[in-house]
Amino acid sequence: DWTMDSYIDETVNSIKKEVGDRNAICGLSGGIDSTVAAVLVQQAIGDNLTCIFVNHGLLRKDEENQVLELFREKFDVKVVYVDARERFLSKLKGVTDPEQKRKIIGEEFIRVFEEEARKIGDVDFLVQGTLYTDVVESGTETASVIKSHHNVGGLPEKMELSLIEPLNSLFKDEVRQVAKELEMPKEVVWRHPFPGPGLAIRVLGEVTEDKLSILKEADAVVADELKKVGLYHDIWQLFTVLPDIKTVGVKGDERSYDYPIILRAVNSQDGMTADWYRFSNDVLESLSNRVVNEVEGVNRLVYDITSKPPATIEWE
Ligand code: XMP
Repeated sequence: DWTMDSYIDETVNSIKKEVGDRNAICGLSGGIDSTVAAVLVQQAIGDNLTCIFVNHGLLRKDEENQVLELFREKFDVKVVYVDARERFLSKLKGVTDPEQKRKIIGEEFIRVFEEEARKIGDVDFLVQGTLYTDVVESGTETASVIKSHHNVGGLPEKMELSLIEPLNSLFKDEVRQVAKELEMPKEVVWRHPFPGPGLAIRVLGEVTEDKLSILKEADAVVADELKKVGLYHDIWQLFTVLPDIKTVGVKGDERSYDYPIILRAVNSQDGMTADWYRFSNDVLESLSNRVVNEVEGVNRLVYDITSKPPATIEWE
């Protein structure tokens, strides 16, 4: 597509001019926006861009490796990887309130990011994956009243960095075109939205390592099955939730007392409203069989058939 092609050239050139030989940092989430933003800036200023990837331990199964491989191997981006898993988990210990969890994660994220940025030193620019819609909607977004949203954006005012926002004139579908132009893999281009607080808001109640690992497994099994039957990319967002209850079941001739897993799948334009996804019974059955058989500690699959409104997409 020639328009996106020239968009890339022009953007890379103008970043080159603006930044010169000064330094920029960027927070990576693995989402498409920050990924495309980082790659464009890398093409403009090379190793003068350092990306900071904070692993808060609330990512999906194997996600940190996929993100690191994409940036380091495929795009030759300099990445500082911060394993902050224990730090976040210990902050979340004993915390059950959803807003409290979001607040702790958001604040801790900024703290870790700032520490790492300070270590890099001599930085003038912060790269953000802000889209045109974020620019237009900021301040009027009603979702933020219902839940305090956190993502890699909204970072350090204190650091007095100038912003580079290479996507702030683009819509989401245009970002996807740029991503294709940059030869990003399909999984990145069509990645489902993922919240900043990650799996912490999908483990209902207190977040523990054990619950996280059950949820990660269940999520991976569901994604794998839906990719196999070719539905994964038909669905706007799809994930599993681990509630804070156990239920009775039978496995072999034995009584089991394990967690249920909740499946959530919705279609949506922008996340503001959403419609629950109508699976066929066959697909529901294979999902149920696989999750219950393959995920240790789970004996039931439940499907959420609520649209937004009245429910929100996430459970917390
Ligand atoms: P809700 O649950 O409010 O979610 O209906 C709407 C969309 O936003 C995502 N979401 C978040 N994204 N930081 C984010 O970047 C957050 O704190 C956050 N909370 C929810 C959610 O996954 C859905 O796509």
